[in-house]
Amino acid sequence: MAAPLYGVIGFPVKHSLSPAMFAAAFWEYNMNATYEKFEVAPDALGDFLADARRRPISGLSVTIPHKTAVMDYLDSVDTHASVIGAVNTVVNKKGKLKGYNTDWTGAQRAIEDVMELKDKDVLVLGAGGAAAAIIYACGNAGARVTILNRTLDKAQELAERFGGGIKVGLLSDILQYRANLLIHTTSIGMGPDAERSLVPVEFFRKGLIVFDIVYTPLENRLVREARRAGCRVIPGYKMLLYQGEKQFELWFKKKPRTDKMEEALLRELVALDR
Ligand SMILES: NC(=O)c1ccc[n+]([C@@H]2O[C@H](COP(=O)([O-])OP(=O)(O)OC[C@H]3O[C@@H](n4cnc5c(N)ncnc54)[C@H](OP(=O)(O)O)[C@@H]3O)[C@@H](O)[C@H]2O)c1
Repeated sequence: MAAPLYGVIGFPVKHSLSPAMFAAAFWEYNMNATYEKFEVAPDALGDFLADARRRPISGLSVTIPHKTAVMDYLDSVDTHASVIGAVNTVVNKKGKLKGYNTDWTGAQRAIEDVMELKDKDVLVLGAGGAAAAIIYACGNAGARVTILNRTLDKAQELAERFGGGIKVGLLSDILQYRANLLIHTTSIGMGPDAERSLVPVEFFRKGLIVFDIVYTPLENRLVREARRAGCRVIPGYKMLLYQGEKQFELWFKKKPRTDKMEEALLRELVALDR
């Protein structure tokens, strides 16, 4: 019998680190399963998913730019994913495709490794797709959230989507705010942009916890300056790790060896940093 097939869909997808994480997880359990990268252009998404039902592809990770569009082609979507407005995981059960979001649980787990969210003040920088999952996670865990974004309208839209209680402001006014946890969710600070930071050093103070979800490189300017000011830092790769852990649980109904997935992920990230 052919090995059950899993994979990640995105466009582009060649830089995805998920295959390394899942190869390590499958190896630990000596599992007869494979995980591939599928580069799927936006106009080919519907056909790809129709084919995935039949082949079958047993489970998919979904990445940019398909996280919202994929919802139109599924048989059902779990409640959390539908409130967030994005699916990053698909489970194929006898030809029926169900969508889930594990970005929010991944973010919550990464934060709760380090601090409790209940009744804490959280400042989220950015109002894009990743921010939506993170804001949902923080709200769900009982934190008070303020969103600061370059474009105020987008922050307002996001705050309204999650109901009352979320404050919004402009990123340029960051020094007027204080928080227990700062979460950076924009793409600034990634790759060749690593020496750009949207956070003035004066914002950092001892006691502040900083979570920058950018994970390439492992340490960018924001993270370096936060550490230097005595802040505790939650590494961005932890969100990727824990969303993958939850995907494994959804597909196989058991927990993976997350420590082995983390080793594999860090090996890839260290190699990318060189
Ligand atoms: N660690 C993880 O597991 C994980 C998971 C998902 C994503 N990520 C990372 O998170 C980042 C954002 O992803 P996304 O999907 O949320 O992207 P997105 O939907 O495109 O949102 C991008 C956000 O960045 C802001 N932004 C972009 N350029 C800016 C600039 N020059 N100055 C100020 N703000 C700027 C945008 O502000 P405007 O609204 O004003 O345009 C928007 O709020 C990426 O680096 C991605 O790799 C990490």
